[in-house]
Amino acid sequence: MCGIVGYIGQNDTKDVLLNGLEKLEYRGYDSAGIAVLNDEGINLFKVKGRIAALRERVDNSVHATMGIGHTRWATHGVPSEDNAHPHRSTSGRFTLVHNGVIENYQEIKKEYLQDVNFVSETDTEVIVQLVEKLFAETGSTIEAFRKAMELLKGSYAIGLIDNEDEDTLYVSKNKSPLLVGLGDGFNVVASDAMATLKVTNQYVEIHDKEIVLVKRNGVELQKLDGTVVERSPYTAHIDASDIEKGTYPHFMLKEIDEQPFVMRRIIKEYQTEDNKLKLDADVRQAMKACDRIYIIAAGTSYHAGLVGKEFIEKLANIPVEVHIASEFSYNMPLLSEKPLFIFISQSGETADSRAVLVRIKELGHSALTITNVPGSTLSREADYTLNLYAGPEIAVASTKAYTAQIAVLAILAVDTAQAKELELDFDPMQELAIVANAMEVLTDQKEAIEELVRENLGTTRNAFFIGRSTDYHVCQEGSLKLKEISYIQAEGFAGGELKHGTIALIEEGTPVIAIATQENVNLSIRGNVQEVAARGANTMVFSMKGLEQDTDAFVIPHVHELLTPLASVVPMQLLAYYAALHRDCDVDKPRNLAKSVTVE
Ligand code: F6R
Repeated sequence: MCGIVGYIGQNDTKDVLLNGLEKLEYRGYDSAGIAVLNDEGINLFKVKGRIAALRERVDNSVHATMGIGHTRWATHGVPSEDNAHPHRSTSGRFTLVHNGVIENYQEIKKEYLQDVNFVSETDTEVIVQLVEKLFAETGSTIEAFRKAMELLKGSYAIGLIDNEDEDTLYVSKNKSPLLVGLGDGFNVVASDAMATLKVTNQYVEIHDKEIVLVKRNGVELQKLDGTVVERSPYTAHIDASDIEKGTYPHFMLKEIDEQPFVMRRIIKEYQTEDNKLKLDADVRQAMKACDRIYIIAAGTSYHAGLVGKEFIEKLANIPVEVHIASEFSYNMPLLSEKPLFIFISQSGETADSRAVLVRIKELGHSALTITNVPGSTLSREADYTLNLYAGPEIAVASTKAYTAQIAVLAILAVDTAQAKELELDFDPMQELAIVANAMEVLTDQKEAIEELVRENLGTTRNAFFIGRSTDYHVCQEGSLKLKEISYIQAEGFAGGELKHGTIALIEEGTPVIAIATQENVNLSIRGNVQEVAARGANTMVFSMKGLEQDTDAFVIPHVHELLTPLASVVPMQLLAYYAALHRDCDVDKPRNLAKSVTVE
């Protein structure tokens, strides 16, 4: 949550900052600001709202070759201009942007900053005031910055400007992501390489509790004790067109449509030339050696984990538990003797998952991260990584990452089964190729889905999704998609569970979406559909070809029974998309949310 950009170079900085912040809006978008330094001092522009509003606010006549910018997802303090970053110290000498949460900000206020008048409610202002206070004691900005970083507890990615030093951007991080981008005569900092890809594809990682002095002609990385760190840059392989909408009205629709290509890319990346599975031997060994797998994830990735559990248990014969990351750390189950942890995360930055990773590493356990961002924190800190190859996912609501996660989990399960020499009658690559074709058929049926939305979800305040077995997991994902972008109160239920309470909510006209792709539960889920229909529900059944009935709302092309979530989720994604569109909601940037949740 929250995005940071910084620039120091020869040219005017405003465009790099504003363009960069636009690319980071997925990280939060309730307020934004930039601060640029020139001979007249700091020029500060802040707004409550989005980068488009900030662009309007920025005075184009101001010219400066150094600056920092921020787009915010509020944690401490409401979205407002006062709480928007950058924040300044009382004297105005220091200006700072921050992404993260300072856990001990109240203690710092009490111990060091009793006499300071704060203008915002944020934990961030405490940092900049602390730097000023420590500067008064030490007379050195770098010393003050270093000491301040030593005192902070929690997560932070920070960019700081000292008015009296036009040649240095002071940068540091702990737990929150931050990169330095290298240019010719300029350098940048950004929460995500996507923000500054237009100006450079060369990046240097910053590790936790390091400080970076970013100058026009070079960068110096140091540990907190001042020891200089050498680290080589890497090339960010992101195709610039992947982060543009092109002719699509929304990133979400583009990303839904990309799913068949992502399936084919996964097949290509995880297959050798002679059609064998291609996975790291270390991953295979870790899977083979463990006696139980603990999948840790949040939101949509958690829903993918629920499907993954079925693959691993059914194909590779290893027991699996799936846990919500934010619950795991505080309520850890009894672990088996040889556990393997699998972290599923599109962004690789989710703080809840990272907290678990840190904890289980302390306990000496092994971890595999399945992520769309191989250089991300969860990837770096785990023992092994599997890449999703989904390409950048920009829309806040996750679509192609979910299906990529399920596809990679299927490949992983089969690879493990092969390593254990288990008998299998399932060729994942062949079946994923069939899925890719089915997805194409599904994404071609947008008009049919839009029609269903118009007829059935028009003004409803709530909606229910019901399914059994694997379909239940897709119901959970379908309901999350619908609620997060259309604000329709939606819930996914196991079909058999309705009669134990939930059915009381069914009224005349309540929309109930049922998924029926599993032969062994087809009759029972249809029984549940009858039960809610008898109580006035407006039912819509999404069935798999071969199991369909005349009254079904939509028929999904046939795919292997294990992989049905990859097909059945597509109409669910489209339902959510059109429901949001018809309600004039901001599809790509739903309220109160952010793409990368870097606070616990
Ligand atoms: C919902 C959604 C979120 C994420 C969750 C975890 O559409 O995108 O529920 O799945 O915040 O994020 P990652 O996968 O980045 O760890």
